[in-house]
Amino acid sequence: MSGINYSEKIPNNVNLSSDRTLQRALEHWQPNYLKWWADMGPESSQNMDVYLRTAVSVDPSGWAHFEHVKMPDYRWGIFLTPPEQDRKIHFGEHMGEAAWQDAPGEYRANLRRIIVTQGDTEPASVEQQRHLGLTAPSQYDLRNLFQVNVEEGRHLWAMVYLLHRYFGRDGREEADALLQRNSGSEDSPRILGAFNEKTPDWLAFYMFTYFTDRDGKFQLCALAESAFDPLARTTKFMLTEEAHHMFVGESGVSRVLQRTAQVMNELKTEDPAAIRRAGVIDLPTIQRYLNFHFSVTVDLFGADQSSNAATFYTTGLKGRYEEGKRTDDHVLKSDTYRVLEVKNGQLNEVEVPMLNALNEVLRDDYIKDSMAGVARWNKVLEKAGVDFRLTVPHKAFNRKIGTLSGIRVSPDGHVLTEEQWNANVDTWLPTPEDRAFVASLMGRVVEPGKFANWIAPPVMGINRQPIDFEYIRFN
Ligand SMILES: [Fe+2]
Ligand SMILES: [Fe+2]
Repeated sequence: MSGINYSEKIPNNVNLSSDRTLQRALEHWQPNYLKWWADMGPESSQNMDVYLRTAVSVDPSGWAHFEHVKMPDYRWGIFLTPPEQDRKIHFGEHMGEAAWQDAPGEYRANLRRIIVTQGDTEPASVEQQRHLGLTAPSQYDLRNLFQVNVEEGRHLWAMVYLLHRYFGRDGREEADALLQRNSGSEDSPRILGAFNEKTPDWLAFYMFTYFTDRDGKFQLCALAESAFDPLARTTKFMLTEEAHHMFVGESGVSRVLQRTAQVMNELKTEDPAAIRRAGVIDLPTIQRYLNFHFSVTVDLFGADQSSNAATFYTTGLKGRYEEGKRTDDHVLKSDTYRVLEVKNGQLNEVEVPMLNALNEVLRDDYIKDSMAGVARWNKVLEKAGVDFRLTVPHKAFNRKIGTLSGIRVSPDGHVLTEEQWNANVDTWLPTPEDRAFVASLMGRVVEPGKFANWIAPPVMGINRQPIDFEYIRFN
């Protein structure tokens, strides 16, 4: 791969061409990335021309540049939001000091770990979604899937840039390892549980982009507060792209609901079997998917009490969501927070030092944000005159991490015996039959402007293009 002009090939605003060491490191990594994309990226997509948004600069006109490109030729760029003059650390024990332009020796290991954990999720989701292109419900949706995929690829580049630029040989090794772990692999799985789950169908994809990409938003927001300025600036730019991923999820589920409600009205029935016979997804199944994706995602925030979370905050590595808008002392040494514990088989709230509960603080902020979109989904049902309402399960439901992992809790927050759980779990989480049914609806629709029977068309096309625009050219 020698002879590539990286300053042209990789759009960037970090003056790549002036840093020979960094350039060499990326020259070494790039072919491995492209090999990973070919092996683990979107299946059978190499020849398609896809109407994609490519970031070519960070200003508003530059990061939304649209054209048809083949995905392996997508220009994965490296962008940081412009530096803030004299930026100061605004929380933790270094508050008031100048933000760091390099990784301080004493925090290197923790910063690297944070960057690697975030970086690992980016290629993981591409791997999870790699088969979905074969069953896209429309060209519009296929294009959105690929947009999400190339941007997750760019997010990997963003983290790899930090590893290469600031973490020397260790960073380069970690960057290589990001391409070696694989979602769901027995020997070298991805770091976080939700990123080893399958995304087997499009309903799962919309739920994933709604719930799990939103976890991404909250993690990125917390990192955008970091005292390590390059990390703050990188994640700030990633957030502009993340918004589109959540849009894909929210509008996707919305369109599924709209179509189901339409069929329910036509058939004048609430019977799931009748609704399924009409080839659309019944609402209880959608609720079970929601329960699954929500509960798996809230686990991503980690243990409810964590000394690592306290350390990351106190040392300035990771802030809270909207740290700058909060009016407390930003040190939190004397603050407390209420977390759930299990006592005598019951859920109880207990006060614990807030510093130790910062994972829970971020999780609760996330839950609030998630609920807002679910309320918007319910508006779709309400408008259609359907009585069913989707609900967000209790945060103790189906947990695998933290204090709550040891107990069984119903979606409405009641602690259950193992027998009670087993007797009801099929009504709360997707069953193999549910998944098989949803899978049976997944067929590929590729004609411009046509949509699969189980989903309504979107209200608008992408970049003000018509809905029947040729978003993909199959070659
Ligand atoms: Fe991402
Ligand atoms: Fe994302």
